[in-house]
Order: sequence, then structure tokens, then C-alpha cells
Amino acid sequence: MTFLESPNYPAPPRLPPVFYGKLALSSRYLLSPLAGFTNLPFRRIVREIGGVGLATTDLVNARSLLANAPKAQELVATCPGDEPLAVQIFGSEPEMMVDAARLLESRGVASIDINMGCPVNKVTKNGSGASMMCRRDDTIELVERIVQAVSIPVSVKMRLGWDDKQITAPEFARAFEQIGVAAVAIHGRTRAQGFSGRVNLDGIRAVVEAVKSIPVVGNGDVRTIADADRMFRETGCRALSIGRGALANPWIFRQLVQWEATGTYDPPGTFNDRLALFRRQFTYVVELRGPDRALPFFRKMAHWYLKSMQVTARLRNAFQQSKSFDQAEAVLAEIIEQGPLSGNRTGALPEMTIPVPSGPVEHW
Ligand SMILES: Cc1cc2nc3c(=O)[nH]c(=O)nc-3n(C[C@H](O)[C@H](O)[C@H](O)COP(=O)(O)O)c2cc1C
Repeated sequence: MTFLESPNYPAPPRLPPVFYGKLALSSRYLLSPLAGFTNLPFRRIVREIGGVGLATTDLVNARSLLANAPKAQELVATCPGDEPLAVQIFGSEPEMMVDAARLLESRGVASIDINMGCPVNKVTKNGSGASMMCRRDDTIELVERIVQAVSIPVSVKMRLGWDDKQITAPEFARAFEQIGVAAVAIHGRTRAQGFSGRVNLDGIRAVVEAVKSIPVVGNGDVRTIADADRMFRETGCRALSIGRGALANPWIFRQLVQWEATGTYDPPGTFNDRLALFRRQFTYVVELRGPDRALPFFRKMAHWYLKSMQVTARLRNAFQQSKSFDQAEAVLAEIIEQGPLSGNRTGALPEMTIPVPSGPVEHW
């Protein structure tokens, strides 16, 4: 892999290592769950680059997992090297959540993460995801049952609250610590906010201050070393998780580990480096799903790669419309021939803008 000059940035304050219960994480930089993206092929890519302390699957429906639904099985698929792995489950029926957690423990998963942050209507209308933040006692009871049912660490991922009138994350975090939850991850937005505005670092700090000793994982809008530095300094969080920033720059975890150790870090990959990852991830998708079902599955991810590689809109569309390997290869050959819109194949690429799920959150 080719890298450019090493930028300089002051190293962060020294922080203690992060433990989820007895599970020691090799770094404080976690891959955040992103439904549709944080599947096994992408996790393999970021883990091979290095620096990931823990990766979490996309959210998995506890009921579907217990019913052995193929989609749920695919979401929890793993392989050697994909460790430590947390599986994120959602659901509102306590029995199912408990049984799903037990099943995952029996399969060797390192940790269970409970989704209390998903704002999507399909999830909240059944009482799961972010709507759990509106039902204090039931939610705490449900989480406690899961904690007691398994011996692996259980974490919870939340937003700050339902809306800015109901900021319940600090209170939940305190209660969760008391019932044995190993860590809480906080996306610093409310459910009502969706992905709009900027992440509220004071809101995350309030959660850090609400707990005694469990790690609080700060999350939201971390795309650069400067963003991570700010997250640590302004919130006091001990770990952070990165979602969209890892799609735009899969090198970010390794950069963060380098920065923490030395104050310097390698730049992200070039056009050629990204092209190599693109191909490698596609071969992992073929391994997971077989050749016939690989291309449609890979489209979402291809979009991010091609955007970050500064490929023209015409060629990006042509790739998305290709119906066969041969067609996709032909478009790829053109993409390689043309190179990035600005910059060159082995030089620094301009930062890409990150799209967010848009529209009123009620309609998601
Ligand atoms: C496309 C997409 C899918 C997501 N899927 C999940 C999910 O399955 N579970 C979850 O807890 N959060 C999910 N999130 C939220 C992210 O984990 C994260 O909290 C949020 O994107 C903010 O972090 P970021 O700015 O680093 O991306 C999703 C976000 C996006 C954009």
C-alpha cells in the first residue's frame, strides 16, 4: 500500500485501556453498526487494515435470529480474524431478546449490544430501538434480564433521548451500570434529530459524568483525527465509535492508533489503494453469498468506494447499472483508465462529503 507524507497532530491525553467487562479491547476505536454496510466483507477489510478494537454487526432482529431466517444468519456470519465481534440485537419481547443473546453466546460471540438508538419507524413502532428510551422501567428490566442470562459482556447503544425535552441517556446509563451493563455507546443526537445538525458533545459528556466506571463510547460525526481529539477532550469519553467516517476512510482506525501512540499518522489510501480494497471486498462478498448474489449486495458499498475515489457520476452510474461481472469489469476498466476527477492515482484525494439518510425522521 502506498502512503503519502505523515501529517502531524498533537497526540491525545493518555487514557486507560478499554475493557468491556473482562474483555480487553486492543484499541479504543470501534466500528459502529451501519445497517447494510457493517457486514462481514466490510469488517474483514477494516480489520485487515488494523486499529479496530471491536466491531459490531448491523442490527439483527432477535425474532428472525431465533427463527433461523437466512437474512439474520447472514448478518451474524463471521470468520477467523473477525474478532472480537459484538452482535447488535433489537426487539421488544424480553423472552426473545434473552434467547437471542443466549444463542449468540453459545456461538462464541464476544459481546452483545442492545439497540436503543434506531430512529427508523419500522423499528420504533414495535417498541424497539429508540422508543425504548421512552419506557424507563420496562427497558431497564429487559436489559437486566439479558445481562443476567449471559456471561459475556452486554453493552447498550443509545441516542441522547427521544427529543430535546426528553434527554434520558444519562439516567439510563447510570441505571445500566448498576445492573451490570459493561459499556454504553452514545450517538450524540436525539431520535427527533435524525442525522441533522451536529453531534452534541455536551450531551455525551453528561452521560460520561453519569456513570462511575464503565466505558462510555462517544459516537457521531468523527471523520478525522481532529474530530476524534475533540470528542475525547470535550466529552471525557474513553472510547469512540465510527460509522460513516469508516466508509469514507477505512484507514481511520489505524490512523487513530498511530496518532495515539506517536502523534503522527499515515494519510488515508490513494485512488489505487481504494481500488485494491474495492476488489478485495468484492471477493469477500462472493465468498459470503456466491457469485450470483454478490453484485446487487455490493452496490451500496461500491457507491462509497467510487465516491471516495472521485469517480465521475457517469461511471459511478454505469457501475451501479451493470448486470453482470463482465459488465462491471468493463466499467471498472474505464474507471481505472480515467483515474480520479481531481488528483492522481497515487496522490492524496480530496475529502468526500458524507451523505446522510435524509427527509423527516418520521418517514424513514
Ligand atoms: C446507513 C446507516 C445505518 C445505520 N445502522 C445502524 C444500526 O444498525 N444500529 C445502530 O445502532 N446504529 C445504526 N446507525 C447509526 C450509526 O451506528 C451511528 O450511530 C451514526 O451513524 C453516527 O455515527 P457516525 O457519524 O460515525 O456515522 C446507522 C447509521 C447509518 C447512516
